[in-house]
Amino acid sequence: MENINWSELSFGYMKTDYNVRSYYKDGKWSDLEVTDSTQITMHMAATCLHYGQESFEGLKAFKGKDGKVRIFRMRENALRMQSSARGIMMAEFPTELFEKAVVEVVKRNERFVPPYESGASLYIRPLLIGTGAEVGVKPAKEYLFVIFVTPVGPYFKEGFKPTPYVIMRGFDRAAPHGTGTIKVGGNYAASLVAGEIAHQKGYSAVLYLDAKEKKFIDECGPANFFGIRDNTYITPESSSILPSITNKSLMVLAEELGMKVERRPIPVEELNTFEEAGACGTAAVISPVSRIDDLDENKSYVFSKDGEPGPMSVKLYEKLRAIQYGDEEDKYGWITVVG
Ligand code: PLP
Ligand code: COI
Repeated sequence: MENINWSELSFGYMKTDYNVRSYYKDGKWSDLEVTDSTQITMHMAATCLHYGQESFEGLKAFKGKDGKVRIFRMRENALRMQSSARGIMMAEFPTELFEKAVVEVVKRNERFVPPYESGASLYIRPLLIGTGAEVGVKPAKEYLFVIFVTPVGPYFKEGFKPTPYVIMRGFDRAAPHGTGTIKVGGNYAASLVAGEIAHQKGYSAVLYLDAKEKKFIDECGPANFFGIRDNTYITPESSSILPSITNKSLMVLAEELGMKVERRPIPVEELNTFEEAGACGTAAVISPVSRIDDLDENKSYVFSKDGEPGPMSVKLYEKLRAIQYGDEEDKYGWITVVG
């Protein structure tokens, strides 16, 4: 792959060699199919096009110093996609088949897994859509599962540098009893306008508050949120945020680093007390937060004055990355080694 400048990659799409698919029909999933076509042909009345029967996942594979490729916590993504499927009445894709598909698509595209030194990774994107034709609002009888991969660099172009976030009460991404806890396309469509305004104003992303009362912190558009105070890792509990696998991992690592962990509702004013803050997710890894501007209340919460991430964020980031790239022992069984 002599033409790819691995260390300059951004978080974008690049064509790779193969994708893997499975089709659900007459109540069962087909064997995996490997194809080099990037196209999907479907009925114009497919439910994914009209009624949002769509869910996706995001996970990564990393090349270690030893040249081995490591996939991070893929079982968690399989389970979350099943939860998403139940949430919008799609056929659930079985765990073993999901894992088999991930391994297959990574192996088939191994030449696109960025080298260790680049700090880049292979992003794996599973997709589940309703393909059966319906006109009334009801779930499809047929589904398509696809996984493609693409090599990526940092989600936010600054990488592991603190960047500003913004609170804007005029926008919600998910309602308390809505679809915020599952990974469905509609949540992201709902975040586009606010996200675009935030970008235009120079922010990395919107920090959403709970939609009902606007009192508590929910999450960012594409990532969970955490704050650090008194050696404690504090992250929101809410009925409208995605259960992030990165966040779940960081909570384990924080404890290992001797920190306390609190998962509970976080009132907006508590931002005042945090020594560090960050956004976390597969794509974002840890993206340190320099400042949060609350535009409605005309307030700013500052976490990084010198443009550098805080010490605990650095420790958490390095520990997570060390496990993902195989520099540190995988004592929690989070890694699947391929090749
Ligand atoms: N929250 C939202 C809304 C996301 O889209 C993501 C990305 O997947 C996350 C949080 C982080 O989740 P994970 O760490 O499982 O990637
Ligand atoms: C991820 O972190 O994998 C995400 O899905 C975030 C974004 C690309 C939607």
